[in-house]
Amino acid sequence: MNLPDLCVARDRKKVDINYINLDFDIKPIFKGKKYFLRTYGCQMNVHDSEEIKYYLEALGFQQGNCLEDADIVVLNTCAIRENAKDKVIGYLGRCKHLKKEKKDLIICLCGCLTELPNEVMSFKKNHSYVDIIIGTHNIYELPKLIAETKGFQNIEVYSNSDKVYENIKYKRDSKISAWINIAYGCDKFCTYCIVPMTRGRERSRKIEQILEEVAYLKKEGFQEITLLGQNVNAYGNDLNLGYDFATLLEKVALIGIPRVRFVTSHPWNFTDRMIDVIAKYDNIMPYIHLPLQSGSDEILRKMNRRYSRLQYKELFDMIKNKIKNVAVTTDIIVGFPGETEEDFQQTLELVQYCMFDGAYTFIFSPREGTLAANFEDEISLEEKEDRLKRLNEVVNKYSLLNNQKYVGQEVMVLVTGESEKGKDKVCGYTETFKLVNLIGDQSLIGKIVKVKIIDAKSFSLDGEVVKEALIA
Ligand code: 5AD
Ligand code: SF4
Repeated sequence: MNLPDLCVARDRKKVDINYINLDFDIKPIFKGKKYFLRTYGCQMNVHDSEEIKYYLEALGFQQGNCLEDADIVVLNTCAIRENAKDKVIGYLGRCKHLKKEKKDLIICLCGCLTELPNEVMSFKKNHSYVDIIIGTHNIYELPKLIAETKGFQNIEVYSNSDKVYENIKYKRDSKISAWINIAYGCDKFCTYCIVPMTRGRERSRKIEQILEEVAYLKKEGFQEITLLGQNVNAYGNDLNLGYDFATLLEKVALIGIPRVRFVTSHPWNFTDRMIDVIAKYDNIMPYIHLPLQSGSDEILRKMNRRYSRLQYKELFDMIKNKIKNVAVTTDIIVGFPGETEEDFQQTLELVQYCMFDGAYTFIFSPREGTLAANFEDEISLEEKEDRLKRLNEVVNKYSLLNNQKYVGQEVMVLVTGESEKGKDKVCGYTETFKLVNLIGDQSLIGKIVKVKIIDAKSFSLDGEVVKEALIA
């Protein structure tokens, strides 16, 4: 599908990517000390935290249970909306309080907020008790900085980057399901979004390195991998090596891990070939997160999304027609500057058309440094909250309707852990990424089992194991 630009995008400066192989020793000089790591934001941050954990544990720290336990606290921050920032600032207050009693406590900030020069300046000015500030590009420097904070002085390392680091080590949270970065940064410059500023320009990892990592994870017994990028379908565009995301996805599928997933897809550049590859391989999961953001052409143009509502619909239809039983979820922003009630109605109408399996919905939050932060915003907060409420009602109605279709069906569930719904229960995910709670003991964890769905709610399903089907 060919999607023309609806809005003048910022020119992409050519970035010559520097591939750097990390190779350094870390001495366990903090044996007996404890760390507490708090992660805010998206899957990128969650995966970055797995790198941070590796470094902390290599330094000798052990994971503590709470902030009060900690000798070092690391806050991996998010900048996507103002409330994400507020949460970090709130938590920092608790850290400051603790540091009054525990003078040697090391406080470290990293992640997206600390990539923004104004935020860094404000942290230095208003939170001078913070010891280390690093960004998203230089996490590998953390062990060196921690080891060097002898007198716990303020250190700031702020850098933008044209680099891709290879040979990164992770302490993965799960032995069942693993994240794999395939690309960093984003070049789309949606006018509301801070990500191109916090994560830098689009930089793809080389295909050989990704395939090597997938093969390693298969050998380690992982049942599921999720390929991670701000915009996975742009994978490879910056490399000019003749391969794209469809090529990568196919090669990854052929390695034979039982479940392959990917996030996030932009409707722009979502090629027919991608759809064909997803449809062809049983181990590529039929689940696509396809952010819509708005159903109004005028707002999409102001957002610089590069597609129209009609083009979104056509893409959506093609995905639904070609990929059997596919589930599609989305992201939607309400209250974007200039959004009229009519624009909003168009969003509601498109949600009704697509009947999404789920949607993450947000009120527009102006981010300093983005174009939309300067757009005139005349919509009252009351109106924005009302739109969000009305949108959520429709979204939840379709989530429930989609989930109800599963009742009585037998589906394959990868059991990932204990359920929050009771000690006798475990939980897992269908191929379409529906959360299922089921009665069963911990021996099921890590297995793919056949489950009969007996009840449906808006955000989860209840099921019973039919037959344990271990996939080797
Ligand atoms: N305000 C509100 N929502 C935003 N998102 C990104 N930037 C903003 C913003 N400034 C939402 C988009 C995106 C998701 C990860 O967060 O919907 O897809
Ligand atoms: Fe932000 Fe996604 Fe747009 Fe990139 S494509 S600018 S990450 S919303």
